[in-house]
Amino acid sequence: MLPINHPIRAEHMQELAPEQIDTLVQHAINARQMAYAPHSQFDVGAAVWIPEGAIVTGCNVENASYGLTICAERAAICTAVNEGYQQFQAIAIATAGGASPCGACRQFLSEFRCDLQVIMVDVLTGARQIRRLSQLLPDAFDADNLPIH
Ligand code: THU
Repeated sequence: MLPINHPIRAEHMQELAPEQIDTLVQHAINARQMAYAPHSQFDVGAAVWIPEGAIVTGCNVENASYGLTICAERAAICTAVNEGYQQFQAIAIATAGGASPCGACRQFLSEFRCDLQVIMVDVLTGARQIRRLSQLLPDAFDADNLPIH
């Protein structure tokens, strides 16, 4: 297991090239097809760019209890961690309207101390917005705030 404060290599912080963004976006759009969202009818797909050279995807998985719903971003990150990845360079999120990640997902993404590029895609128009996670979640709560660190 990597230490909580594992360093992020500088090359992992670079911005994706335009064709890499296109690829990641297409994976997020494809992942959205798998969404299980019978309660909200709001399908979400996410695709994470792994610096080692992989893309891992996720979709939202809803539950009748509502609160147990898993967002697409967190599903993708959990799958990536299960596959042995803990460094993330970018995430694309595909929705109707180009929604930005919810607060819980911002916090979840910040755990890994990678200032990911966050690419929000509107599947209706193709429009994209790109931010850094640090723009979406400045001054994040993290392990440095815990007494054992
Ligand atoms: N959702 C996501 O998958 N990601 C977000 O960042 C925001 C919300 C999902 C959860 C739920 O299934 C649906 O969108 C409506 O909130």
